[in-house]
Amino acid sequence: MKMNTLAQLVRVLLGVAGVALVLLGIAFWTGHASSLIPVHAAIGLLFVVCLWVLSILGLKAGVNRRLVAFVFIWSLAVPIVGAIQMLLLPGAWHWVVQVTHLLTGIVAMYLGALLHKRISLAIS
Ligand code: HEM
Repeated sequence: MKMNTLAQLVRVLLGVAGVALVLLGIAFWTGHASSLIPVHAAIGLLFVVCLWVLSILGLKAGVNRRLVAFVFIWSLAVPIVGAIQMLLLPGAWHWVVQVTHLLTGIVAMYLGALLHKRISLAIS
């Protein structure tokens, strides 16, 4: 598969997964669908793997290495906060983890889109 096609595919997957994660997250936040948390975590892992693929493509395409490294490190932070969240499900300070989780996720969506843009520019 050509690099451009793969990058495009991953970008679409990232977008669809991101929207699904936020929608599920809103449902959890409003006290619904908590039985779907494992589905959310699985989609979350897919989302993170997409960021890894983009990081590899970024390296191959010669995108700024600092940006690639930052996206990769961020992609590790997202599931770590998600896992902490699962451990800390009850508790008075849970909202802090929830907000941190939402923000790390939103920043990750932005970083994925940015890296994809840089890859497209680098290989066009
Ligand atoms: C491997 C990655 C991920 C894991 C393991 C994970 C896990 C979780 C868990 C366990 C909850 C708990 C619900 C609760 O505390 O009530 C949650 C909620 C949520 N997740 Fe994720 N998640 C992941 C990725 C993402 C990403 C990438 C996004 C956004 C793009 C996201 C957005 C949300 C939102 C908005 C909520 C509801 C509010 C909140 O708790 O922050 N998640 N997630």
